[in-house]
Amino acid sequence: MKYSVLVLLFFVSMVINAQNNTNYDESKIPEYKLPDPLLMLDGGKVTDANMWMKNRRPEILHLFEEQVYGRIPGKLDISSFQVVEENSSALDNQAIRKQVKLKFNNNNKELEFHILIYLPKDVKNAPVFLAYNFYGNHSIVNDKDVLITKAWVRNNEQFGINDNKATEQSRGTRTNRWAIEKIISSGFGLATIYYGEVDPDNNDFSDGVHPLLYSKNQTKPKDNEWGSISAWAWGLTKAMDYFEKDKDIDDSRVIVMGHSRLGKTSLWAGALDERFAMVISNNSGCGGAALSRRKIGETVEVMNVRFPHWCCTNYDFYNSNENALPIDQHMLIALIAPRPVYIASAEKDKWADPKGEYLSGYYASPVYELFGKKGLSSTEMPAVNHPVQNTIGYHIRSGKHDVTDFDWEQYIKFANANLNL
Ligand code: GCU
Repeated sequence: MKYSVLVLLFFVSMVINAQNNTNYDESKIPEYKLPDPLLMLDGGKVTDANMWMKNRRPEILHLFEEQVYGRIPGKLDISSFQVVEENSSALDNQAIRKQVKLKFNNNNKELEFHILIYLPKDVKNAPVFLAYNFYGNHSIVNDKDVLITKAWVRNNEQFGINDNKATEQSRGTRTNRWAIEKIISSGFGLATIYYGEVDPDNNDFSDGVHPLLYSKNQTKPKDNEWGSISAWAWGLTKAMDYFEKDKDIDDSRVIVMGHSRLGKTSLWAGALDERFAMVISNNSGCGGAALSRRKIGETVEVMNVRFPHWCCTNYDFYNSNENALPIDQHMLIALIAPRPVYIASAEKDKWADPKGEYLSGYYASPVYELFGKKGLSSTEMPAVNHPVQNTIGYHIRSGKHDVTDFDWEQYIKFANANLNL
């Protein structure tokens, strides 16, 4: 047998083995002690918001950069942007549509990605939900004028994607996840980007944004440098740079939202960039809102083996070794304080550990309290379909791993209550 086949078999057996060992039983969760977000590395106690912002927050941010997602190794500004298409009577004349191309150049390499923006016609300077999509901007809406991405797309027979190329057939195939009429009629804009234009979701560091910031002869990120989640988070911060230049958008009210791996990304982007006014994690699970030490559903090891490109190489050290982590995911939520953050779970999405997602919000709450804000006050989760909305919001809805109208309705309500709209 060829060596490469052996390697592949080994890899597949590791994944199957790890997945077969998945624990879904609360009584089998190992003993663990979470790191205290308010305890400095030198043992000092954080007593006020100023100390949190000046001393403890940077410490935790640095740990997530070095040990989990990987640091973005340099600065890369927009080289140029172009509104490639604009229409003021989109969505049955309810919205303005813009498609904006951002270009980046460095190391003799170029990257471009497109932001599809819908803004409510009757609102000046609209607040905006910013969220990545999985299959291309044209997949989120039934709108024949949305450009089809030329980037690598995951094959999906149902959507007619065969050789990693999107076609007309996938237009509007994901409308169920995007309550666009509701968003627009509630006075919000929606901006979306196909995540594969920023970095294709595969274990290959020769494509996407990474090569633009390589040093001489570098071919992959160093152990503490950015994986794909950090790369996608970078893309969101660049969309924010663009919003600062677009007078039709209220850049002080940009809500970064993401589902699943892109929920992990929205949390990380919200932590990295304080310009995001509000952050939403939809079913983000392991490496997102869920506490890693609970080891229930997906574990750090299973995620790192199946998706070795998402986090930085240093994170592998914590495979089946969660207690060695200097952080846990409640501290990722804490990095967003005092800004509003919403964590959403789904009842059937056990893989993402709904309880662990909830508890992250609960254990981040002492940091919100430093600012006089209310997080989640009980260790008990609320009942299914009964959202709790303080400065930390949470719900577990019925149904599976997905984004539904119910989810969007809560996000709109939460934004209205928390962003003084
Ligand atoms: C897989 C993965 C999760 C991820 C999800 C998704 O299930 O294990 O960590 O959140 O894909 O992005 O859809």
